[in-house]
Amino acid sequence: MSETKVYPVDTEFASQSWVDNDTYLSMYEKSITDPEGFWGEHGRRIEWMKPYTRVKNTSFDPHNVDIRWYEDGTLNASVSCLDRHLESRGDQVAIIWEGDDPSEDENITYRDLYERVCKFANALKAQGAKKGDVITLYMPMIPEAAVAMLACARIGAVHSIVFGGFSPDALAARVEGGQSNIVITADQSLRGGKAVPLKDNVDLALKNAGTECCKKVVVVKRTGGDIAWDDSRDVWYEEIVADASTECAPEEMGAEDPLFILYTSGSTGQPKGLKHTTGGYMVYASMTHQYAFDYKDGDIYWCTADVGWVTGHSYIVYGPLANGATSLMFEGVPSYPDNSRFGRVIEKHKVNQFYTAPTAIRALMQQGEDVLGDSDLSTLKVLGSVGEPINPEAWEWYHRIIGQGRCPIVDTWWQTETGGMMIMPLPGATAAKPGSATRPFFGVQPALVDNEGNILEGATDGNLVITDSWPGQGRSIWGDHDRFVQTYFSTFKGYYTTGDGARRDEDGYYWITGRVDDVINVSGHRMGTAEVESALVAHPKVAEAAVVGYPHDIKGQGIYVYVTLQAGIEESDELLKELRTWVRSEIGPIATPDLVQFAPGLPKTRSGKIMRRILRKVAEDDFGSLGDTSTLADPTVVDDLINNRQNRK
Ligand code: WTA
Repeated sequence: MSETKVYPVDTEFASQSWVDNDTYLSMYEKSITDPEGFWGEHGRRIEWMKPYTRVKNTSFDPHNVDIRWYEDGTLNASVSCLDRHLESRGDQVAIIWEGDDPSEDENITYRDLYERVCKFANALKAQGAKKGDVITLYMPMIPEAAVAMLACARIGAVHSIVFGGFSPDALAARVEGGQSNIVITADQSLRGGKAVPLKDNVDLALKNAGTECCKKVVVVKRTGGDIAWDDSRDVWYEEIVADASTECAPEEMGAEDPLFILYTSGSTGQPKGLKHTTGGYMVYASMTHQYAFDYKDGDIYWCTADVGWVTGHSYIVYGPLANGATSLMFEGVPSYPDNSRFGRVIEKHKVNQFYTAPTAIRALMQQGEDVLGDSDLSTLKVLGSVGEPINPEAWEWYHRIIGQGRCPIVDTWWQTETGGMMIMPLPGATAAKPGSATRPFFGVQPALVDNEGNILEGATDGNLVITDSWPGQGRSIWGDHDRFVQTYFSTFKGYYTTGDGARRDEDGYYWITGRVDDVINVSGHRMGTAEVESALVAHPKVAEAAVVGYPHDIKGQGIYVYVTLQAGIEESDELLKELRTWVRSEIGPIATPDLVQFAPGLPKTRSGKIMRRILRKVAEDDFGSLGDTSTLADPTVVDDLINNRQNRK
């Protein structure tokens, strides 16, 4: 089995890295035995206005979940990312922007970025924005996305970014959820040469949802494409920043004041807005970025995520910029203009650290070993993976083809809820095993529990929990703290429940096995099966729907849908297509079902509960092991499901 394969740390790499194995072990030990001392010291890596005196004040007790770090300190996140670099590295490039079209790029220095952020912060204030407001961003991957995030932070507004691939309905729900008074968008975004109508989607979202809260829409001109305009509401970004001052005093924020909301999918109900606060998040994002990538001054670092996901927040913007890094921001897709694009960008900008998702690696892998052409990859030093388990074959390919057998790979396990990386190798310290996220970061105490919540020792499988708080942890669900407690702290009392299953091996390494709840992970994007189901039952011809994940060669998991039609509705290929398009337009392209099966009946218990276990097995084409079906209200539905299964191998 490939899991026995070990890639030891390169001694030369270890000798120049921030931490080697001995340092890791002693720092980890200190972080657990003396969290106050450890985080008290490392908290000073960011800029504070008023220094903190209290470090950790956290409780996972389900009757009183309360998480505070550095609670009496004050700061502004944008100061750590901008102001403090002006003197030492004002002329250094902060953001390298690489456009969708390879002929478009831009270098933005720390001084440029500072001025753009201040200008926009002033412009937002002139539009009525103030401390505590929630501002929704629905943006392409252009520098203005980072400018807008930091401008919000500067004035103490809370940003809520909605991924630009989400539908108008999904956007509307998030604008309403945050009671956002301003939406920042662009006329269109560009991906793979195709325009996506962002502003049209905003118009639809604001009209359909009857969102009274939103008074202003700020529009960045990206493509110059045709858009509708509402004079009473819409303003051009370029016009409002034109005469704004390049200085804007940063708002003084409490460490526990919110920095952003980010919606993410759970196993039940609609997506929830995770609330992240300022002090602990900034400390944790910057520290993990430095150590996981062994980031050194002058390195060029590239994370391929979108700012609409947490990876973009922590590892394109806040972490790298707090560290004074040069962070590359890519507007396009790996397959445009052709499949060698990643290699071309690495070569063009001399990238040193590269952070991407297993789904992208598997897609490249399918194109063959020469997919990156003759791109010069010799600048690469560390490779990262995030978003879903990386299968050992993809790991080996990543190591051999992109890393040229030379670069350590950091497989980083974490979640929107955790704010930053939790379990990952440190490249100078941790021997890698392909497919394992390896060991916890400083201050992180993972444990495995059985279904009753008992801690399991030694090499074993179990539910992955974290037994104590770390600074980057999400503090609540926006407007619904009870749901936060219910979702994360009530299943296994006293612990943070991750929703993932994992195995721990004899070396204490963690192997994430995937979600244990009804969340599926499609190309590294989290999706609640309940969300897709509720989109389907909103279709007039659908009576009932059940959604499960199934193994997919490139996406990791695909979306498998079972639908029961309303009485009298005929099954047809057109209707299949229509349902796929329907989900796509209700949620967004990432939710498009891969396989749809018409099911006249779903397997239910006598009390009416759908038995997903059976649906998963059929979707996996593994119906030999269905287990006990005798408790079903109507066991005969299973034969029909099997006969009409869509994933025949
Ligand atoms: C999965 C993305 C295995 C996991 C940062 C988690 C992973 C969910 C890994 C969070 C990894 C993320 N190995 N699984 N390295 N990284 N996951 O909130 O199931 O979009 O719970 O955060 O992705 O997804 P989210």
